[in-house]
This record gives sequence, structure tokens and C-alpha cells, in this order.
Amino acid sequence: MFPVFALALGFELVVAVEGIIVNVSRSLPAGIAKSPFEAFVSYSIEYAFFPDFAGNESSPNTFSDNLLNNLGNLTGTKPYIRVGGNTQDYALYNASLTVATDGIINPARSVDYPTTLYTGPSFFESYKTWPGVKFVHGFNLGLGGNSSAGWDTLLETVPLACKALGKERLLWWEYGNEPDLYSTSAQGPVRPSTWNEVEYVTQWLNGTRHIKEQLFQACPELLGNDTYGYLAPSFAGTNNHLKPIQTWEDGVDVDQDIKLFSSHNYIGGATSPGVTLQGTLMNHTSTVHSISAQVAVAANLSSLATVPFILGETNSLYNEGAPGLSNAFGAALWGVDFNLWCASVGISRVHMHQGTDYRYAAWQPIETNKTTKGTKAPYYGSIAVAAFLGDLTDRKKALRIANIPLQTPFEAAYAAYEHGDLARVAVINMREYNYTVNGTSSVTNPVARPSQTYSFYVGELRAGKVAVKRLYANGSDAISGITWDGWSYNWELDQGRPVRLSNVTVGEEAFADKGVVGIVVEDSSAAVLEIRRT
Ligand SMILES: *[C@@H]1O[C@H](CO)[C@@H](O)[C@H](O)[C@H]1NC(C)=O
Ligand SMILES: *[C@@H]1O[C@H](CO)[C@@H](O)[C@H](O)[C@H]1NC(C)=O
Ligand SMILES: *[C@@H]1O[C@H](CO)[C@@H](O)[C@H](O)[C@H]1NC(C)=O
Ligand SMILES: *[C@@H]1O[C@H](CO)[C@@H](O)[C@H](O)[C@H]1NC(C)=O
Ligand SMILES: *[C@@H]1O[C@H](CO)[C@@H](O)[C@H](O)[C@H]1NC(C)=O
Ligand SMILES: *[C@@H]1O[C@H](CO)[C@@H](O)[C@H](O)[C@H]1NC(C)=O
Ligand SMILES: *[C@@H]1O[C@H](CO)[C@@H](O)[C@H](O)[C@H]1NC(C)=O
Ligand SMILES: *[C@@H]1O[C@H](CO)[C@@H](O)[C@H](O)[C@H]1NC(C)=O
Ligand SMILES: *[C@@H]1O[C@H](CO)[C@@H](O)[C@H](O)[C@H]1NC(C)=O
Ligand SMILES: *[C@@H]1O[C@H](CO)[C@@H](O)[C@H](O)[C@H]1NC(C)=O
Ligand SMILES: *[C@@H]1O[C@H](CO)[C@@H](O)[C@H](O)[C@H]1NC(C)=O
Ligand SMILES: *[C@@H]1O[C@H](CO)[C@@H](O)[C@H](O)[C@H]1NC(C)=O
Repeated sequence: MFPVFALALGFELVVAVEGIIVNVSRSLPAGIAKSPFEAFVSYSIEYAFFPDFAGNESSPNTFSDNLLNNLGNLTGTKPYIRVGGNTQDYALYNASLTVATDGIINPARSVDYPTTLYTGPSFFESYKTWPGVKFVHGFNLGLGGNSSAGWDTLLETVPLACKALGKERLLWWEYGNEPDLYSTSAQGPVRPSTWNEVEYVTQWLNGTRHIKEQLFQACPELLGNDTYGYLAPSFAGTNNHLKPIQTWEDGVDVDQDIKLFSSHNYIGGATSPGVTLQGTLMNHTSTVHSISAQVAVAANLSSLATVPFILGETNSLYNEGAPGLSNAFGAALWGVDFNLWCASVGISRVHMHQGTDYRYAAWQPIETNKTTKGTKAPYYGSIAVAAFLGDLTDRKKALRIANIPLQTPFEAAYAAYEHGDLARVAVINMREYNYTVNGTSSVTNPVARPSQTYSFYVGELRAGKVAVKRLYANGSDAISGITWDGWSYNWELDQGRPVRLSNVTVGEEAFADKGVVGIVVEDSSAAVLEIRRT
């Protein structure tokens, strides 16, 4: 019924006969989203843990820097780093503190991060350790708006932050993390139940105007239209106690200094009942469903303003992720589907959140008694996304990303267009395959790993074949041994610099027959096809 094609998988020749042929448009599909921004693959780092990730001037964290360089080499720009999160709204400044941070964890409020936090002057050194990285610094609105220590912190830290960042490192500012939850926060409310959008806007304008005054004193060179601006409103969700679009209608941007409309997104909760790798993360429908509310907000916003829409903080499961889910290879596959879906619906940039000991972290920057220092599974998701997107600084390429609808929720495919032509196809087979039994690493799964055959009609190719790169691990439950195109970025190999492993097949090619390219993708793995027409 369908053409027969052959493809090379490693050294074996596999012949697939039937199957659905997915037609991939060679030219830009109608209604395709605008280009992803430079540094689309970005991170958000929890305020209290930023010194762990970046180190300080006398002891820079070069492991983190190596990981950021790897991504920079793929997309042309090192990831942008938003320094913020819940602890941004707990941080108070203590000028006498001789260490960067002094935090107290109150397990009744959170076991993962301090809810009482002081930062000292050396905190700001951490902005100087990663060459070429741009940052968003988050100021404290939570306590800034209702305690004198909080307000003093705001006024005192503007000069420290602006001098440490300067034009070279400053992207934008942020004032307040998830203020839509201030009156309902599970970690303890910081506003009364009467808190609403109008009050938020009043306080946000008051605070940002004071930030501007401080900048005028300390860093007047940062007040140009290209240097002074904010990410806002940085809401946790689209439908909490405060609604994001309402803030716009209530005048949050009357000063016209909001450069990026930032929203936060999590697919589910780490301890929410029924959350599983297959059902919650390795499930394209679940990702689409989760992002649909963001898409609706972005659409409403576009009728009010031209400000770009980004996810300024996001990851798999809120409350810092679940062990066995958020730190497993399955979460890396989720991350590829999630990021590319965001790109395909016009979200301009995605900041994946992380903190020390967080289960969903892309890497653990230091050794602790909870977590081994190292590159974690989700980082490999970032790498695959960056490789698929390619150089985002070359605007002439006009990169555009489109979803390619597939048959089941357990797989997803995307097309990348450059100069209006199909350049790459990514396919993510998210069917769960455990390489261990019951999560016991000593018991290897006796069931052979299944695979799926995908056939894409991409049009005639002069070369008759396409290059294949794979995101691979032994199973969705693997937390180590992960590679992208045979590269490992693990700490223990070369401190996060790329190392080509010898036990993974690379240089693979898939053959095209009458414009149809077939590829076998093992369950719980992903592949990218590089289309060359000449
Ligand atoms: C594939 O899609 C393109 C554009 O959508 C269309 O022109 C073409 O006829 C389709 N080809 C097949 C084999 O369906
Ligand atoms: C990767 O980035 C680093 C730091 O910018 C640079 O030194 C190195 O030459 C780059 N490597 C490649 C292959 O682009
Ligand atoms: C500020 O830090 C100094 C030096 O560690 C300490 O003595 C002082 O108690 C701290 N102040 C507050 C308010 O925590
Ligand atoms: C700089 O970092 C090192 C290593 O973490 C630490 O020992 C030192 O106290 C830090 N310096 C300051 C001023 O915080
Ligand atoms: C701005 O906020 C500060 C601190 O809460 C407060 O003292 C001041 O009155 C506010 N100014 C205005 C104009 O609301
Ligand atoms: C901040 O607001 C919360 C909630 O209204 C309140 O419980 C808390 O006491 C306030 N803190 C200060 C220092 O005013
Ligand atoms: C300020 O910069 C924004 C982009 O950040 C641009 O859209 C706007 O036109 C600029 N405004 C002025 C007055 O230059
Ligand atoms: C996948 O996600 C959708 C949307 O959340 C959900 O309805 C469906 O049950 C999920 N599939 C599985 C197998 O859990
Ligand atoms: C683990 O490390 C933390 C932070 O350094 C420390 O407070 C805690 O006591 C340590 N726990 C154990 C069991 O060593
Ligand atoms: C895995 O768990 C199932 C259900 O609890 C149990 O029946 C089975 O023996 C376990 N297998 C191994 C190898 O531990
Ligand atoms: C994989 O292992 C997890 C944890 O042991 C289990 O819940 C899940 O059902 C397994 N999935 C498959 C496809 O066997
Ligand atoms: C390749 O070797 C590394 C150890 O060097 C291991 O962790 C990984 O699982 C291996 N990969 C495959 C596909 O066997």
C-alpha cells in the first residue's frame, strides 16, 4: 500500500513496510508562530541558590559555566538567567553579612528552600562569574510591600545589583515573584485577603518608580529605553486570586517599562495524587492542555499590547519536582516536547527553573548531603532543544517551529523551517520504557525495548538521505548515561564540557524513498532528522 523504504539503524539495515506516512510541509505552514527569541533555551535560578550555581569572584562555578557554554555554542547565545523565585520575596539585605546568603529552612513552610533569608554584599559577586551571560535580577515585593526591612532592602540593593550587572550583563529587572499568590501562599501569605490587581498595580508602580530613582543615583547609564525595563507580572498561573490580563487593564504598564510579559507554568504538582511519568509528563496532550491557558492569556494580551510573552519560570512538577519523575530521562523527553510546543505556539522564550537539590534541576552545581554534583537528565532536554533550534542569532534564517500532529499522545513531532524551507524534523517517542524493574537498578528489565517506525513525507531530496541525531538513554527511568548525538556533558567526565562516548552510535543516516524518510525510534527516546536538499 505504501512505499517500501530502508533505513540504517546503527549497522543494521531495517526495512519497514507499511505504516502511516506523515506529510510534512516543505514550506511554511499557514498560521505558523513567529520566530523564537534569541536565548529561547534559558534558565531561572532560585534566588537563594544563585551563589551555589554561579560561585563568586574568588571561586567561580566553572562547571555551570561549561554547561551554559554548551548551549551557547548551539544557539549562538548563552542562556539568559532569571535570578528569582519564591526566595526572591523572602530575601532581606544585611550589609554586615560576610557570606553570600544566610537562610533558615522552616520545614513547616518548605523543606526545599529557606523562608527566612538574608543576603550579604558578596551575593552580587555571583553576577560576575559567567562571561557573556545576561541576567534578570528579581527584587523583593513580597516583603518590600509590607515591612520596613523589605522596603529598605529594595532601596539598598538596587545600587549593588546595578553596579554588579552593568549594561553588559543586565537583561531586565523583575519586581515580585508570583504576586497572584501573595494572599494565599502555601508558604504563608504576605498580603491580606483583600489583595487584588489594583493594589498590586499600585505597589508595583510605587516600587519600580523607586527602583528607577535609585538607578538614577547609582547607575544612570542603565536608564535608557534599551536598558531599563521589567519582566512582569510573573504570575504563578493564569487563573489564581489575581488575573494577569487584569493587571494590564489596571495600568501596570502605564510607565511603558514592561519589556516582557512573563508567566509561570508547571504541568502538575510533585506530590499531587495520580502524577506519573507517562500520564503527566510523557504525554503530549497533557503538555498541550497545560500550555493552552498560557496561549489564551497571550492572545488576550496581544489585543492590548505588543509586548512579547515568555515563560519566566517553568518546569515539570511544582514543589521542586518528584524523585524518579522530574530527574529521570523521561523528564528530559518531556522537556523537549514542552519547549518545542511552546515555540510552536509563539511563546518567545522559556526559562526552566532550578535550585540546589531540586529534583527537576538541569544540574546540581555543588555537592550536598542530598544530591551529587553533576549534570542531570533535564539538561539533556535543553541540549536537544538547543540543537534542534540551531543558531537563533542569525535572524536572516527566520527560524520557525511547527508541530506535526501524530497519532497518539505518547509521541510528538516538530518541523523547523529556515529561510522558509523545511530544515529539520524532531520526533519524540514518549512511550515509557523502564530499563530496570520496579525502579531497582540491579534488576534489568527482561522485556526488550520496543520501537516505533515513523515515516515522514518531506519531498524529494537530492542526496536521498538525511543525517540523524538522537537523544538517548537506556530507558525513561535512567538518571545517568544520557547522551545527545553521542555527547555526554557529565561533570565526572570533563566538568561538563562535551565528551563523545564510544558506546553510542553516531553518524547515522536515514534514507529517503520518493520523498519519504523512515526512522525507527526506540520507546523513550527522541531523534532529529537534518534535511538537506542538495
Ligand atoms: C503534503 O502537504 C502539502 C502542503 O500542505 C501538499 O501540497 C501536498 O499535496 C501534500 N502531499 C501529500 C502526499 O499529501
Ligand atoms: C563554545 O563556547 C566557548 C565559550 O564561548 C568557546 O570558547 C568555544 O570556542 C565554543 N566552541 C565552539 C565549538 O563553538
Ligand atoms: C547581620 O549580619 C551580622 C553579621 O553576621 C549579624 O551579626 C547580624 O545579627 C545580622 N543582622 C540580622 C538582622 O540578621
Ligand atoms: C566564595 O565562595 C567560596 C566557595 O564557596 C566560599 O568559601 C567563600 O566564603 C565565598 N566568599 C564570599 C565572600 O562569600
Ligand atoms: C511606596 O511604598 C512605601 C513603602 O511601603 C511607602 O512608604 C510609600 O508611602 C509608598 N508611596 C506611595 C506613593 O504609595
Ligand atoms: C505582611 O502581610 C501578612 C498578611 O497580611 C501579615 O500576616 C504579616 O504580618 C505582614 N508582615 C508585616 C511585617 O507587616
Ligand atoms: C523602547 O524599546 C522598545 C523595545 O524594548 C520599543 O518597542 C520602543 O519603541 C522603544 N521606545 C522608544 C521611545 O524608543
Ligand atoms: C494524558 O493527558 C491528558 C490531559 O491531561 C489526560 O486526559 C490523559 O488521561 C493522559 N493520559 C494518560 C495515559 O494518563
Ligand atoms: C546536610 O547539609 C545541611 C546544609 O549544609 C546541614 O544543615 C545538615 O545538617 C546536613 N545534614 C546531615 C544529615 O548531615
Ligand atoms: C515488581 O513489583 C511487582 C508488584 O509489586 C512484584 O510482583 C514483582 O515481583 C517485582 N519485581 C521485582 C523483580 O522486584
Ligand atoms: C516503570 O516503572 C515505574 C516505577 O517502577 C512504574 O510505575 C511504571 O508503571 C513502569 N512503566 C512501565 C511501562 O513498565
Ligand atoms: C555508555 O557508557 C556509559 C558509561 O560510560 C553508560 O552510563 C551508558 O549507559 C552507556 N550507554 C549505552 C547506550 O549503553
